[in-house]
Amino acid sequence: MTESHKTVQNIKERKGFVVHIADAKHVVEADFFGIASGNNMKDKFEKSGLTTVKSDLVDAPIINELPIAMECEFIEYQNDETGIGVIGKVVKTSIEEANMSGDKVNIDSLEAIAFDPYTHGYYKVSGRVGEAFSDGKKLF
Ligand SMILES: Cc1cc2nc3c(=O)[nH]c(=O)nc-3n(C[C@H](O)[C@H](O)[C@H](O)COP(=O)(O)O)c2cc1C
Repeated sequence: MTESHKTVQNIKERKGFVVHIADAKHVVEADFFGIASGNNMKDKFEKSGLTTVKSDLVDAPIINELPIAMECEFIEYQNDETGIGVIGKVVKTSIEEANMSGDKVNIDSLEAIAFDPYTHGYYKVSGRVGEAFSDGKKLF
């Protein structure tokens, strides 16, 4: 069983998982989660210095310090020649209060990070550059 298959096996047995979005403040911890494996570092999570609370809705932990958490019910496991994947149903999304502007997420203050596999860099997802469903009308 490969490392990825072990992780999926855990999700299938517990029938749930939580997807987090990391922010620029936690780039070290996010990268650590990607380069260390719980399969050979039993205290992987403790070493990150982050903390968790148990989800009320699914059998999985929520990381307190990360700004977005999506609690998901396990739906389906896919495994074919293109790779493996897990389909889940998001049952609850939590956003850090400090990053809300009224009832909307403040994308700029949140500073979510994205990974560029070509340059091996992490980049902030911020800086509104346009208006959806509107800017394209200029070309009609
Ligand atoms: C930036 C980055 C991106 C990664 N992307 C993937 C990915 O898309 N799929 C995957 O299976 N592993 C990916 N990995 C590798 C896993 O994170 C790695 O195998 C990790 O040790 C798994 O941890 P675990 O064994 O505790 O679940 C990535 C690692 C890094 C640092």
